[in-house]
Amino acid sequence: MATPSTTIVDPAFRADVLAGLASPTRAIPARWLYDRRGSELFEAITTLPEYYLTRADTALLERHSGEVAQIVGTGGAVVEFGSGSSAKTPILLRAVKPTAYVPIDISGDFLRDSAAALHDEFPSLALYPVEADFMGPMELPAEIARLDKLGFFPGSTIGNMIAQTAVDLLRGMKSALGVGANLLIGIDRVKDEGVLLSAYDDAQGITAEFNLNLLHRINAELGGTIPVDAFRHKAVWNAPMSRIEMHLEAVRDVTFTVSGHSFSIPAGETIHTENSHKYGPRDARLLLRAAGWTIVGEWTGEDDRFALLLAEAEAPRFAP
Ligand code: AVI
Repeated sequence: MATPSTTIVDPAFRADVLAGLASPTRAIPARWLYDRRGSELFEAITTLPEYYLTRADTALLERHSGEVAQIVGTGGAVVEFGSGSSAKTPILLRAVKPTAYVPIDISGDFLRDSAAALHDEFPSLALYPVEADFMGPMELPAEIARLDKLGFFPGSTIGNMIAQTAVDLLRGMKSALGVGANLLIGIDRVKDEGVLLSAYDDAQGITAEFNLNLLHRINAELGGTIPVDAFRHKAVWNAPMSRIEMHLEAVRDVTFTVSGHSFSIPAGETIHTENSHKYGPRDARLLLRAAGWTIVGEWTGEDDRFALLLAEAEAPRFAP
């Protein structure tokens, strides 16, 4: 007789969902969007005609990695935070010719697959994958202690954090990499609202599927009874906060349970699932400076849609 399959419940997921649904401003942390299906849908988003971010970031890396190498030098260690599929990494590695590459990702599957792919193209590169959440304390492999370090954080993932969390993370990166290290970071720019809204609400409905997948995940992993068709994807531009927000809006009054807890959401109310902050040139520089990084290079495309910034970890010094 077949044994019924059991899903191991992630207690952190359950705690975040129960607390988020019970809070007066319903919100679930965006990191839970990325189960296997969510990660596949995000990969599909990156190729959508409306989602300019990945193409803009990749084009800047292709155009300017040589200049990055001139500033930071070659032969050091590249440390990538949230490496995922490491899709953009080879562009940087070809230019900065590091001795070692340290991908940090919460998903061991991603780390193994991308390490194998990189080994084929860069057979002499030493790979030290670290399976960890880069939002927590990070310890880098002892093998790279003596190498010059270049942190790499592309894709404007920093935009998914509120400013306070972003500064905490940038400080954490500085303490992990050390004074004198560099950081190459991609940051999406504030732009025309229409362009932003269609990037987060595409015509094919892939972003909607990505957002709604969170409800399927809650049903599958937390024994939820959410009627997914009672919700629709909603992307809004919050001008005062300079961010695109993703919400799941109830299209009718709905009552359901999650892990035995009952919730009711009236029609028109939402569950907030993601923020994607957009930065002007001065905002982006200030964000880095607030975390102890000095800007040493900045590149944008002709249309100024996206920025690639290179910063150096400052030594602490007295200030008046
Ligand atoms: C991962 N992150 C940078 C994406 C973004 O643009 O904020 C996530 C995303 N959400 C909807 N589309 C893409």
